[in-house]
Amino acid sequence: MALRNIRVAGDEVLNKVCREVKENSPKLQTLIDDMFDTMYNAMGVGLAAPQVGILKRVVVIDADDNPYVLINPEIIETKGTQTGNEGCLSVPGKAGIVTRPNYVKVKALDRNFKEFILEGEELLARAICHECDHLDGHIYTEKVEGELFDVSDDYETQE
Ligand code: NI
Repeated sequence: MALRNIRVAGDEVLNKVCREVKENSPKLQTLIDDMFDTMYNAMGVGLAAPQVGILKRVVVIDADDNPYVLINPEIIETKGTQTGNEGCLSVPGKAGIVTRPNYVKVKALDRNFKEFILEGEELLARAICHECDHLDGHIYTEKVEGELFDVSDDYETQE
C-alpha cells in the first residue's frame, strides 16, 4: 500500500490537460493501485491522476461499492440532470451544489487495457463527470451554483 500526496486547488498541476495513456506498464499498474489506496484512505469516491500529480488520463472510482479503473475515458452519452452536493479531495473540507447529467455512458480502457462501457446514474454519473473534468484541468468549483460551504472530513461525496 502506498499513499500519494493529494494536490490541492491552487496547485497548477490541477489545471493542465492530461495526456492519453498509450501503453500498459508496471508503472501504470502501480499508479492505479496507489490511486485506489489514496482514494480509500481519504474516504473519497473517485480520484483522477492529476490529483496525485500525474498528468495522465487515468481515473479510479468507487461510488457504488464497485471499483472502476477508467483509462482514457470518453463520455459518449448523457441523459437528464441532477442537482446536488459535490466535493473534491483537492478542495478539502468544502462542498458546493453542481448540476450534472443524471445518466452517463462512458467508454474507457480497464487496467488490462481492454475497452469497456460503463453506465452510471446518480452518484456514479456525477463521479464520472467530475473525474473526467479533472483530466481536462477543470475542478468542480468552476461549476458551483452559489457559494462553497464547509463540510466535515468524512463527507461522503468527495471526488
Ligand atoms: Ni475532484
